[in-house]
Amino acid sequence: MAKKRIFSGIQPTGNIHLGNYLGAVKNWVDSQEEYENIFCVVNSHAITIKQDPKELHQKTYELAAILLACGIDTQKSHLFIQSQIDEHAALAWILDCNIPMGDMSRMTQFKDKSAKNPKNINVGLFNYPALMAADILLYQVDGVPVGEDQKQHLELTRDVAMRFNRDYGECFKIPEPLIPKVGARIMGLDNPESKMSKSSSGANHAIFLLDSPEAIMAKFKKATTDSHTTIVFDPTRAGLYNLLSIYEIFTHKSRESIEQEFAGKGYGQLKSAIAEVVIESLRPIRERYERLMGDEGYIREILAQGAQSVRPIASGTYERAKELVGLV
Ligand code: TRP
Repeated sequence: MAKKRIFSGIQPTGNIHLGNYLGAVKNWVDSQEEYENIFCVVNSHAITIKQDPKELHQKTYELAAILLACGIDTQKSHLFIQSQIDEHAALAWILDCNIPMGDMSRMTQFKDKSAKNPKNINVGLFNYPALMAADILLYQVDGVPVGEDQKQHLELTRDVAMRFNRDYGECFKIPEPLIPKVGARIMGLDNPESKMSKSSSGANHAIFLLDSPEAIMAKFKKATTDSHTTIVFDPTRAGLYNLLSIYEIFTHKSRESIEQEFAGKGYGQLKSAIAEVVIESLRPIRERYERLMGDEGYIREILAQGAQSVRPIASGTYERAKELVGLV
């Protein structure tokens, strides 16, 4: 039986943190045997918000290097840069002409993002979901992993695909949402009530994948806890629960054995132990990343090959869509 084909997109903005890694990237890496994965660095989506061009260029390669360092294996998976396949923007146009204004106007992410960036509410930001639909539909995928915030966009993708197939003829596979496994919901270290996020400005909010061992230790030491004295998995004690969950994920130990390990110990000892485990787990990723970034030509080559490997699928779908709508 053929493997299911999955499309995952990630924007090259901000820095990848522990929450992104445990919530998404690690699942991608672990699913490389099970699925035919298409991983795309969606740099064209990034310019819906003003970017410094040099920085965007740099961040795009950096993100690709981080994904490779985390274990994305281009012998098994496709990894490419969105802007290197012209069909994304081209198909987005055809889809644009088949998405009712009313459907697009309901997208809550546009409303959120335009409220946050009142000085740059551009047409691309409004249109963002059409480009995302094109990303997905070009590759005839079976599924797309989506978090809560992207569900509405996937729903729009399915709607436009079904409408297109009905009105013009069979063209697109209808993608299913893959709801990520729960459990790896990592909270901010400074504010364990909210999810670890790229955009929080707190200096001790997130552990970034490329943080130095010293920075990781310092951030864990300052992590918010509470004034209790027992160390147990108690979801009502959000700070402690988050720390213990991170420890659980990295050590693969059972909750009982973790509670035993820290019985009678203080938060200081717990925090050092977690920091050590995270430092050692991230060390090989950081080292591989540094080696890769030392050879940008190599990354460029890997990405060129990645684009080459998906281009035939993209152009096949695009040519069919063009033909069906009567474009010569
Ligand atoms: N919108 C997604 C996000 O912000 C990124 C993205 C772009 C994407 N195109 C995609 C995700 C296609 C999945 C499939 O997280």
